[in-house]
Amino acid sequence: MNETKPASMNAFWMPFTNNRDFKANPRLMVSAEGMYYRDVDGNQVLDGTAGLWCVPCGHAQPKIVSAVREMIGQLDFAPTFQMGHPAAFDLAEKLMDYTNHRFGQVFYTNSGSEAVDTALKMALAYHKARGEGSRTRLIGRERGYHGVGFGGMSVGGIGGNRKSFGPMLGGVDHLPHTHNLEKNAFTRGEPEHGMNLADELERIVALHDASTIAAVIVEPVAGSTGVLIPPKGYLKRLRELCTKHGILLIFDEVITGFGRLTTPFGCDYFDVEPDIMTTAKGLTNGVVPMGAVFTKQFIYDTFMEAPPGIELFHGYTYSGHPLACAAALATLEVFEDQKILEHAKSVQSYWEDAIHSLKGLPHVIDLRSIGMIAGIELESIPGKPGARAFSAFKQAFADGVLIRTTGDIIALSPPLVLEKKHIDELFGKLTTVLKNLD
Ligand SMILES: Cc1ncc(COP(=O)(O)O)c(C=O)c1O
Repeated sequence: MNETKPASMNAFWMPFTNNRDFKANPRLMVSAEGMYYRDVDGNQVLDGTAGLWCVPCGHAQPKIVSAVREMIGQLDFAPTFQMGHPAAFDLAEKLMDYTNHRFGQVFYTNSGSEAVDTALKMALAYHKARGEGSRTRLIGRERGYHGVGFGGMSVGGIGGNRKSFGPMLGGVDHLPHTHNLEKNAFTRGEPEHGMNLADELERIVALHDASTIAAVIVEPVAGSTGVLIPPKGYLKRLRELCTKHGILLIFDEVITGFGRLTTPFGCDYFDVEPDIMTTAKGLTNGVVPMGAVFTKQFIYDTFMEAPPGIELFHGYTYSGHPLACAAALATLEVFEDQKILEHAKSVQSYWEDAIHSLKGLPHVIDLRSIGMIAGIELESIPGKPGARAFSAFKQAFADGVLIRTTGDIIALSPPLVLEKKHIDELFGKLTTVLKNLD
């Protein structure tokens, strides 16, 4: 294993990174186990973000590591176009069990972005297949993040992710976001105010007519934009309106899937039934890239009524890759055997108390929490949006904790296996960072 610093950092164009700043002051991880990374200088770094929200069972989980090792020796690759391999089917059945048979089928992708674009294409093709080809509009939400494909970017609502890449997909409209610091700051769980913002869908329907709208896509809890928690009743209302107007409801559960809210999925937590659900992070514990799109039985059935032949002209070379399937099967086993959700539930209130204990620290203008997610919003330095939180990120890393920032919001989403001692360490260090922040 190479644990030395790279000779040059020029060639790797890093994603979503300030390349020049990073390459001047790199943060390089060389190994990981349980709740900790170890950096190239030998320092332990407590993982407050589960990598990028994707390591619920902790790093180097032995069962998952050995399942992948075993599979690579047995079946390195097999296509899933017009053929298959048993693990892909076994995993699909297990995933149906894990959703409590709320869904009928699952379609594999390699990432959240691909899962989103797959879901959007399925929604369009579904309406076309049932003779409502006029339903071509897709409705996203301001501040939504749905990955970086052209579909996901178009329904997404983060200005910085869109501004350099136009034109976006045509026929897309956006619901307003629900973030309201004036009314909802310092809330635990779902905030009181803002359910009525779901009714904005009626306005969009009045403008475009329901017969032109294929789907609405939202994250149950928006993560990448800085932890926006849906107001009480909001998602249920959105469901009612989609049903009323024959619009498919897609939940993008790339971060809320696989236990982040202490339930298997966000739809379990909020008790709302989407028609399609996208997932990725957490599915393989981050070990092998994989995404999965869950669909209701009626959607699949519609496609199966077509004349014999390929029913959906869509897929990826690596859809259902054997290593990803092995990792996902082992991850589901670990969730069950190690009672990951029960454990997360048992530390959730301690976690939430720790977050809200930061109230009153300099620059903190909001603390919000749900499940095993927390958002800490800092007042921006005038004219330098994002600079304050980025300084906190760098200092926290130097002090041995990994946090994530977006704008001036710190988002925390640790592996679900964390214990109270890790919560103490995380918030102890973060308190010091925040107290000393300019
Ligand atoms: C809600 C949501 N959708 C989609 C994505 C994109 O996933 P990926 O980075 O795996 O393409 C993300 C990633 O953060 C996400 O949070």
